[in-house]
Amino acid sequence: MLGRLNHVAIAVPDLAKGIEVYRTMLGARVSEPQAVPAHGVTVVFVELPNTKIELLEPLGEDSPIRRFLEKNPAGGMHHVCYEVEDIFAARERLKAEGAKVLGSGEPKIGAHGKPVLFLHPKDFCGTLVELEQA
Ligand code: CO
Repeated sequence: MLGRLNHVAIAVPDLAKGIEVYRTMLGARVSEPQAVPAHGVTVVFVELPNTKIELLEPLGEDSPIRRFLEKNPAGGMHHVCYEVEDIFAARERLKAEGAKVLGSGEPKIGAHGKPVLFLHPKDFCGTLVELEQA
Protein backbone atom coordinates (compact mmCIF):
# COMPACT_ATOMS: atom_id res chain seq x y z
CA MET A 1 0.00 0.00 0.00
CA LEU A 2 2.79 2.45 0.88
CA GLY A 3 4.63 4.28 -1.85
CA ARG A 4 7.43 6.83 -1.60
CA LEU A 5 8.33 8.91 1.41
CA ASN A 6 6.82 12.24 0.37
CA HIS A 7 8.23 14.33 3.22
CA VAL A 8 9.31 14.53 6.82
CA ALA A 9 7.77 17.47 8.68
CA ILE A 10 9.59 19.37 11.39
CA ALA A 11 7.70 21.82 13.60
CA VAL A 12 9.66 24.99 14.37
CA PRO A 13 8.91 27.90 16.70
CA ASP A 14 10.49 30.42 14.29
CA LEU A 15 10.24 29.73 10.56
CA ALA A 16 12.80 32.39 9.59
CA LYS A 17 15.38 30.71 11.82
CA GLY A 18 14.52 27.30 10.40
CA ILE A 19 14.94 28.62 6.84
CA GLU A 20 18.29 30.09 7.82
CA VAL A 21 19.46 26.74 9.23
CA TYR A 22 18.54 24.79 6.11
CA ARG A 23 19.48 27.43 3.51
CA THR A 24 22.67 28.83 5.01
CA MET A 25 24.10 26.21 7.37
CA LEU A 26 23.04 23.13 5.41
CA GLY A 27 23.11 24.64 1.90
CA ALA A 28 19.71 23.30 0.86
CA ARG A 29 17.18 24.76 -1.56
CA VAL A 30 14.24 26.16 0.43
CA SER A 31 10.93 27.40 -1.04
CA GLU A 32 9.21 30.65 -0.10
CA PRO A 33 6.83 30.42 2.92
CA GLN A 34 3.26 29.42 2.13
CA ALA A 35 0.33 29.91 4.52
CA VAL A 36 -2.00 26.90 4.73
CA PRO A 37 -4.84 28.16 6.94
CA ALA A 38 -6.88 24.95 6.56
CA HIS A 39 -4.07 23.11 8.39
CA GLY A 40 -3.11 25.94 10.77
CA VAL A 41 0.48 26.18 9.55
CA THR A 42 2.87 28.22 7.48
CA VAL A 43 5.18 25.90 5.58
CA VAL A 44 8.37 25.90 3.54
CA PHE A 45 9.68 22.96 1.55
CA VAL A 46 13.33 21.98 1.70
CA GLU A 47 14.02 20.22 -1.60
CA LEU A 48 16.29 17.20 -1.31
CA PRO A 49 17.25 14.90 -4.20
CA ASN A 50 15.07 12.03 -2.94
CA THR A 51 12.40 13.67 -0.77
CA LYS A 52 11.40 16.89 0.98
CA ILE A 53 11.61 18.27 4.46
CA GLU A 54 8.76 20.56 5.48
CA LEU A 55 9.30 23.16 8.16
CA LEU A 56 6.01 24.01 9.88
CA GLU A 57 5.31 27.12 11.94
CA PRO A 58 1.99 27.60 13.77
CA LEU A 59 -0.58 29.79 11.99
CA GLY A 60 -3.54 30.97 14.08
CA GLU A 61 -4.48 30.36 17.70
CA ASP A 62 -5.82 26.82 17.24
CA SER A 63 -2.92 25.55 15.16
CA PRO A 64 -2.56 21.77 15.63
CA ILE A 65 1.21 22.16 16.14
CA ARG A 66 0.97 24.68 18.98
CA ARG A 67 0.74 22.04 21.72
CA PHE A 68 3.54 20.06 20.14
CA LEU A 69 5.78 23.13 20.34
CA GLU A 70 4.82 23.74 23.97
CA LYS A 71 6.18 20.25 24.69
CA ASN A 72 9.12 20.67 22.28
CA PRO A 73 10.07 24.35 22.49
CA ALA A 74 13.15 23.99 20.27
CA GLY A 75 11.02 22.27 17.59
CA GLY A 76 11.11 18.63 16.57
CA MET A 77 10.08 15.98 14.09
CA HIS A 78 6.30 16.21 13.80
CA HIS A 79 5.21 13.65 11.20
CA VAL A 80 6.21 11.54 8.23
CA CYS A 81 4.21 11.52 5.00
CA TYR A 82 3.90 8.43 2.83
CA GLU A 83 2.36 8.35 -0.62
CA VAL A 84 -0.53 6.05 -1.46
CA GLU A 85 -2.22 5.51 -4.81
CA ASP A 86 -5.80 5.64 -3.53
CA ILE A 87 -6.42 7.48 -0.28
CA PHE A 88 -9.97 6.15 0.16
CA ALA A 89 -8.85 2.53 -0.31
CA ALA A 90 -6.01 3.15 2.15
CA ARG A 91 -8.42 4.65 4.70
CA GLU A 92 -10.85 1.72 4.46
CA ARG A 93 -8.06 -0.79 4.84
CA LEU A 94 -6.62 0.97 7.90
CA LYS A 95 -10.04 1.39 9.52
CA ALA A 96 -10.66 -2.32 9.02
CA GLU A 97 -7.31 -2.95 10.77
CA GLY A 98 -8.52 -0.84 13.72
CA ALA A 99 -6.32 2.21 13.11
CA LYS A 100 -7.59 5.64 14.12
CA VAL A 101 -7.92 8.24 11.37
CA LEU A 102 -7.73 11.75 12.83
CA GLY A 103 -10.25 14.55 12.38
CA SER A 104 -13.44 13.94 10.43
CA GLY A 105 -11.87 11.00 8.61
CA GLU A 106 -12.41 12.77 5.30
CA PRO A 107 -9.29 13.69 3.29
CA LYS A 108 -8.33 17.37 3.30
CA ILE A 109 -6.32 19.11 0.62
CA GLY A 110 -2.74 19.38 1.88
CA ALA A 111 0.07 21.84 1.20
CA HIS A 112 0.80 20.20 -2.17
CA GLY A 113 -2.80 20.49 -3.39
CA LYS A 114 -3.42 16.75 -2.96
CA PRO A 115 -5.75 14.89 -0.57
CA VAL A 116 -4.21 13.90 2.77
CA LEU A 117 -5.21 12.05 5.94
CA PHE A 118 -3.51 11.84 9.33
CA LEU A 119 -3.27 8.66 11.42
CA HIS A 120 -2.97 8.52 15.19
CA PRO A 121 0.60 7.98 16.47
CA LYS A 122 -0.49 5.29 18.96
CA ASP A 123 -1.15 2.89 16.08
CA PHE A 124 2.09 3.66 14.20
CA CYS A 125 5.06 3.18 16.50
CA GLY A 126 4.53 6.53 18.19
CA THR A 127 4.79 8.54 14.98
CA LEU A 128 2.10 10.77 13.50
CA VAL A 129 1.61 9.53 9.92
CA GLU A 130 0.25 11.54 7.02
CA LEU A 131 -0.94 9.74 3.89
CA GLU A 132 -0.99 11.67 0.64
CA GLN A 133 -2.57 10.49 -2.57
CA ALA A 134 0.28 10.63 -5.09
CO1 CO B 1 2.88 16.94 5.99
